[in-house]
Amino acid sequence: MTTSSAPGKVYLFGEHAVVYGEPAVPCAIERRARVTAERRDDELLRVHADDLSLDGFTVEYSGSSESKPDVAVSESLIDAAMGYVDAAVEQAREAVAEERGEDVSEVGFDITIESDIPLGAGLGSSAAVTVAGIDAATRELGVELSPETVADRAFQAEYEVQSGEASRADTFCSAMGGAVRVEGDDCRRIEAPDLPIVVGFDGGAGDTGALVAGVRQLREEYDFAADTIEAIGDIVREGEQALAEGDIAELGRLMDFNHGLLEALGVSSRSLDRMVWAARDAGAEGAKLTGAGGGGCVVALDETDETSTALRFTPGCEEAFRAELDRDGVRVEQ
Ligand code: MEV
Repeated sequence: MTTSSAPGKVYLFGEHAVVYGEPAVPCAIERRARVTAERRDDELLRVHADDLSLDGFTVEYSGSSESKPDVAVSESLIDAAMGYVDAAVEQAREAVAEERGEDVSEVGFDITIESDIPLGAGLGSSAAVTVAGIDAATRELGVELSPETVADRAFQAEYEVQSGEASRADTFCSAMGGAVRVEGDDCRRIEAPDLPIVVGFDGGAGDTGALVAGVRQLREEYDFAADTIEAIGDIVREGEQALAEGDIAELGRLMDFNHGLLEALGVSSRSLDRMVWAARDAGAEGAKLTGAGGGGCVVALDETDETSTALRFTPGCEEAFRAELDRDGVRVEQ
């Protein structure tokens, strides 16, 4: 039995624009998904997931998300977990075949997922499950992949599950940890100071595919929407400079600007805007939505507890917490 874990993330800058080749800077946060893989004697894939921040559920199936069981939990929750686990296990089998020249396509697993990253909230829960799943399943078969290889395979898995609407940002950040810079296929870790990250969560989740499609449509229809996406890229480049200099005040100003442009692209929501304003009013250096938007989370920078306290009293905010930058990416748990 092997357990691996991988962190969730917030976007300091650049979500959505990254889909069009602009750079983005996600940062790993100290909230993790843990995936345990245990080799079975047959070819079945049994998935157990308790508390993915929503209802707990157990499903049993034979390796294909087409044979979904009839259980009384949210369809999207089952789809999310099964789709990503299916794809992660497939990547693990391919990786082992490549590394060892051994056909393991018939090897089954008992997979257990535990996660303290809210599902679908823009904190990279699916990437963390995929990354940890690939790491745990390959190690269980005696193969140790580099974090870079895990990142690459996790991207292939997400790309497949999300029908091509995925960038490398979430999976690379989760596999590598720390602050990373992603621009197309070029991904690398970058220097970052300790960041006073505060997250506010509205309890909801946007539909990433629909939100990405909405931005794509705006970009095709209006030159100024395309310009807005390029302007987000400019903010990211400025932001990298501020990160290198450890200039938290400048980072906050740029986050505020980035949120305004995401709002213009139609991916914010009333609850996200309320939380952003509550954070700013409480004295945060800056605040923005993080991830696909439409609902989910905001990220703010504040050394004090004022922002998290204010968020807890903000209508529509279900949870607010501090989250340190996690400099560890995927790792095996003892
Ligand atoms: C979703 O977490 C981030 C988006 O930029 C989509 C992606 O990069 O795959 C909206």
